[in-house]
Amino acid sequence: MPLIGKKKVTDGIKLSDNLNVFADLYVKQKQAIRFPEEINIGLDLVDYKGMADEERKLFHDLVGYFVTSELLVQNVLGESFYPYIMDPRAKMAMTVQMFMEDIHSDFFEMILNTFSMNRDEMYNKSSTHPIMKKKQEMVAEAANAISVSTGGVDPDTIKGKKAILNAILINNIIQEGIFFYSAFAMYFAIRETGRMKNVCNGMDLVLIDESFHLKMGMEMILTMIEETPELVQDEEFVQHIRDTIVAGAELELEFLQSLLGSRMTFGINYNEMADYLKYVVDRRLEELGFGPHYLVGENPLKFLQKQDFKTLQNFFEITPNQYTNF
Ligand SMILES: [Fe+2]
Ligand SMILES: [Fe+2]
Repeated sequence: MPLIGKKKVTDGIKLSDNLNVFADLYVKQKQAIRFPEEINIGLDLVDYKGMADEERKLFHDLVGYFVTSELLVQNVLGESFYPYIMDPRAKMAMTVQMFMEDIHSDFFEMILNTFSMNRDEMYNKSSTHPIMKKKQEMVAEAANAISVSTGGVDPDTIKGKKAILNAILINNIIQEGIFFYSAFAMYFAIRETGRMKNVCNGMDLVLIDESFHLKMGMEMILTMIEETPELVQDEEFVQHIRDTIVAGAELELEFLQSLLGSRMTFGINYNEMADYLKYVVDRRLEELGFGPHYLVGENPLKFLQKQDFKTLQNFFEITPNQYTNF
């Protein structure tokens, strides 16, 4: 059964005994499920209260970005992708992803409540911060273009498949695999200062989950290409994929500039974060078979390579054959 296509509710109600990559992703994600209640982020209250104004502002911007983005991902999966997926094992993997997004929303709600943040201010950030808004609009535009409730596309045509692939690329690779990774690095910079340890432990769990969602996106794209090689025989479309990744990266660089300016906050500055982001983007390009764009040879954020980070490193510097370690 193909990954993507038109379907009836009686299609795909038998699981094949062929355990494909999506069956594997279902199991791995299921095993990764952790609940935010297991972490006592209230222990970080003293650290939170002791933050300098610019530190608190950065922390708030990161939380504000995630509170709406987790729900945005959930909507994109449910409204846009799920109706087109035929392979029952891929559907199982995707519904675990959706459950994980619920858990992430739960975790960020806990942060809002524990630190008595202004809910409206946090939820409004993605519509009032101009670059945060642009990042979410990029995702929303691609997902809305295929959303079934607003008409959708024909998944059996090349045009429809291209639109679906484009939406997967922007949600799972650019949003979850580039935008989110940039935010994770800033949380780990906070941990490097010895503060907010429990919140950062929770972010470890979110990162592990997001690494699976990035993998899910990569596998969906590679499967679509394998099933429909015409997609990549169109050079213009291939160039579009590469250009879209670079456009997402440039938007994230703008975002980092707006957050960090010329200051050093939590021990990191814009230049280091920009190099880290470029390094991540080159990995994403390579995972999809493109050459690197920014040519940053190694991860410039040295604290991500320390011993206590080792178990997470595979999720941070992920390559397609590295997902078996969890
Ligand atoms: Fe998430
Ligand atoms: Fe995710």
